[in-house]
Amino acid sequence: MFTTHSPDNSPLTLEPDSFRDELVRAAHWAADYLQALPGTPVTTPMPDDHRRALSAPALPDDGRPVPEFLDFVASEVAPYPGGNGHPAFFAWITTPPAPAGIIAHLLGATLNASCGYGENALVELERGAVRALAELAGLPAATGGVLTSGGSMANLLCLAAARSWFLRIRGAVDGAAYDEAHARLVCYQSTETHMSVSKSARTIGLPASRIRAVPTTSDQRMDVAALRAAVEADLAAGLLPFCVVSSLGTTSTGAIDPIAEITAVCREFGMWHHGDGAYGGLGATHPALAPHYEGIAELDSLTIDPHKTLNTPIACGAALVTKPARLRETFTVEASYLEGNEEWPWLSDYTVELTRPGDRALAVHAVLHQLGKRGVTALIDGYLTHTEHLRRLVDEIPELELVAAGPWSITCLRYRPAGYDGDVEDLNARIAQEIQRRGAAFVATVRVQGELTLRVSICGHRTTKADIETLVAEILEAGRSVAATR
Ligand SMILES: Cc1ncc(COP(=O)(O)O)c(C=O)c1O
Repeated sequence: MFTTHSPDNSPLTLEPDSFRDELVRAAHWAADYLQALPGTPVTTPMPDDHRRALSAPALPDDGRPVPEFLDFVASEVAPYPGGNGHPAFFAWITTPPAPAGIIAHLLGATLNASCGYGENALVELERGAVRALAELAGLPAATGGVLTSGGSMANLLCLAAARSWFLRIRGAVDGAAYDEAHARLVCYQSTETHMSVSKSARTIGLPASRIRAVPTTSDQRMDVAALRAAVEADLAAGLLPFCVVSSLGTTSTGAIDPIAEITAVCREFGMWHHGDGAYGGLGATHPALAPHYEGIAELDSLTIDPHKTLNTPIACGAALVTKPARLRETFTVEASYLEGNEEWPWLSDYTVELTRPGDRALAVHAVLHQLGKRGVTALIDGYLTHTEHLRRLVDEIPELELVAAGPWSITCLRYRPAGYDGDVEDLNARIAQEIQRRGAAFVATVRVQGELTLRVSICGHRTTKADIETLVAEILEAGRSVAATR
């Protein structure tokens, strides 16, 4: 409960009534903003002088009244959104914020407890959030881990754990033995793997030459025979294959790598198997996707992004490790000023961060509280239903061509009218730009097996059937006008 206590002289004091009034004003603004969003352009180009004004040092000589800040956000910041709050936003995998998650963020900032050290209820909520995500994904009950800022950070933590585990079981934990083994480590991903995996591998010290990109089969899934051949070749060359990263929902097409077959290769050669499920890690909750997740319980670690599939506000990922002690052994560094509790270990021992936000745990709880297990399935079902509708329209409209349609809710397609003899890639790149400029929908491009396509990602709880139809109409209109101006 907020008390009426306020110090005499702090420049940060806001009298309780003013604080309450400002919270109410901000709450009304947030609700009105989100309600009005579907009727506004998805994005609005930001003039360069506005960029310069916003990026100038925000440092007045004298402070200003707090209420002016909301006015500033409303008039100078909100008119230039990233677009992902809008139901007709289909780019990347950036989703609108679930209302329950927004409330959780306000409450999290109010409680302001660190989930890294010390004792507080948010730490336990984070453990519970991690367990809930693990259960939804189909991982064993003993799985542990931490929430992160997103999939990139979760991939980094899991790769670091894989590296520590691999070197530890070889006794190469320090000195010359460590250096000698480290210089031979090799990690494997597919050509479709998200770039954050290479970034993670480089961050833990692997040069690009020891990060293998295994080819995929025609359905964009890792070619397991090619993986095995690469591992055998590296072993024969005296290298140390230590980790394979499979994708549980690739960013480009939503393909799911053959999890069980890759685990079999990992077990045979003593490697760690990490699953990057930033986008698709919760697919096992949906009956149409579940068969692709066979063997998920045997992973050593898994990345999930609640800020993707579950629409929690940015930023929320999760690094899940089926034997959590391996994560802890990787990141525990003793310090006399941080004496933790053995029975309830501090979460900073499982990650690189010491001070950690509690709003992620609250947001995952808030969204799962609203959804329950069935609601998670229903949410994903909505994405898949809209995806099916889109693919049906693409099938029916002669100018549209389906290029890739994985089990998940990403669809790659092209506008290619009959008899068009121009450069189809250039045409589709310009169509994406034209759609973005027009503002009724937003779509980006991706290359599938080297060829540029429009990529439609459906992962937002606000998207409706009508938004899918708007997108298709926009592709056709932009396509016709761009094709005519070549
Ligand atoms: C498969 C995959 N992995 C990792 C990431 C990185 O996640 P984040 O942007 O949350 O860091 C993404 C982002 O789109 C992704 O699609």
